[in-house]
Amino acid sequence: MLIAIDGPAGAGKSTVARAVADALGFTYLDSGAMYRCVALGELRGAEDPLAAQIDLGGGRVTLDGEDVTEAIRTPEVSERASQVAARPEVRGHLVALQRAMVRDGDYVAEGRDIGTVVAPDAELKVFLTASPEERARRRAAQLGVEPEQVLREQAERDTRDATRAHSPLQPASDALRVDTTGLGIDEVVARIARLVQAVR
Ligand code: DC
Repeated sequence: MLIAIDGPAGAGKSTVARAVADALGFTYLDSGAMYRCVALGELRGAEDPLAAQIDLGGGRVTLDGEDVTEAIRTPEVSERASQVAARPEVRGHLVALQRAMVRDGDYVAEGRDIGTVVAPDAELKVFLTASPEERARRRAAQLGVEPEQVLREQAERDTRDATRAHSPLQPASDALRVDTTGLGIDEVVARIARLVQAVR
């Protein structure tokens, strides 16, 4: 079974997807981490960043055997990841890897295009949203910086993610929208768990 959780940065996807996966005993797939790995490879001047081996097992992210779990979370990598994610050859490569990963077993896969491109036949598709201000507040708290700065950069990335020619961020037509503004993590997880029960 596959649960797709898509939505913009800061909507709470990672926290929610991880918690839903834990609650159900499913495997969590963070597709954004894969775009971040390609971005990190590029920033480091790798000759062919798409040839690198990305592993997401055990709650850590490794790139050619190196643990990059923290290294892929810097603002510089976020910025570059949004750029590499607009390139068709990068998307084609990572989507193929993601499809192979979720083919067998039970997954909660999180990203921007899981319900639309990677797994249009997912049993449940959730589109997670929150107000731009709330999303920026959450990211700023994680990064220890001012929300105003995050809000500005977030708006630029949102526009790029939503308007790119290749797989723009859009809810699947059959996705269920869940607005997390003002909701605690437990409430959101409980809501999604109820949606899962309904399709099981
Ligand atoms: O979710 P995230 O912030 O870790 O994602 C990093 C970047 O990758 C972000 O700019 C959106 C992009 N992305 C994407 O285009 N498709 C996905 N399935 C996941 C992430």
